Amino acid sequence: MPHSQLLEPINNFLVCTTPQQWVEQAIKKENLSVILIDHLICELKAAQSAMFLIRKYAVDKEGSDALLEWLKPFETLIYKREGNWRDLAAKNKLTKSIIPKSNSPYGQDLIDKMVLLIKEELHHFYQVLEIMDECGVEYQSITPCRYAKGMLRHVKTFEPNALVDKLIVGAYIEARSCERFAKLAPHVDKRLGDFYISLLRSEARHYQDYLTLAQEIADFDITERVKEFGEIEAQLITSQDEDFKFHSGLPIAQS
Ligand SMILES: [Fe+2]
Ligand SMILES: [Fe+2]
Repeated sequence: MPHSQLLEPINNFLVCTTPQQWVEQAIKKENLSVILIDHLICELKAAQSAMFLIRKYAVDKEGSDALLEWLKPFETLIYKREGNWRDLAAKNKLTKSIIPKSNSPYGQDLIDKMVLLIKEELHHFYQVLEIMDECGVEYQSITPCRYAKGMLRHVKTFEPNALVDKLIVGAYIEARSCERFAKLAPHVDKRLGDFYISLLRSEARHYQDYLTLAQEIADFDITERVKEFGEIEAQLITSQDEDFKFHSGLPIAQS
């Protein structure tokens, strides 16, 4: 499928497109390292939040421990700066099959979709590390931008609505990432541009998976809730933002 076809549903789903000013900021040479490092962290966070969801809602203790074990070397590299990143490719595997805990109402579909998603996000994480290595960008810790938090603070506090909302937020993060990769691809060097395009297929599926799961789990039609988060998301993307990151808003004009 050509990527214009992959992007069509994404662009319809998102309430606004990324402002051109953000694209111009993001393709500046001096911003390459912040874009790559933030992208790296986004991939880890995507894996972590998917894992959080299945651990909280769907798996038993044994499955939960196996999931944590899987993530550990990736987290250790970032948070403790320990381990060789090149070893991580071989470590991206789950050692046992994860079955839903008997009292989980959400079950196998949530687990199957999220386990595949985690595997793909951790593979992307590794691929970003490869590109950082090639570009001579060193990892350094950076602060998260307002974006995810800005949506998560609207998440309901009761179930199943809380889970439904988190899944909808997940869909928006995936869709926006996909849209931004496509926007950046024509303006960056070929190696990085090809990588961004290669991400579109899986990120486009991730956003769909989150939405499908949200509707499966909700005991109501989620259309209105999706729209509400769409407005919140668009507001975060189009309003001025002092911070500059992968998911930041409208950059303040540089003098
Ligand atoms: Fe990803
Ligand atoms: Fe993703």
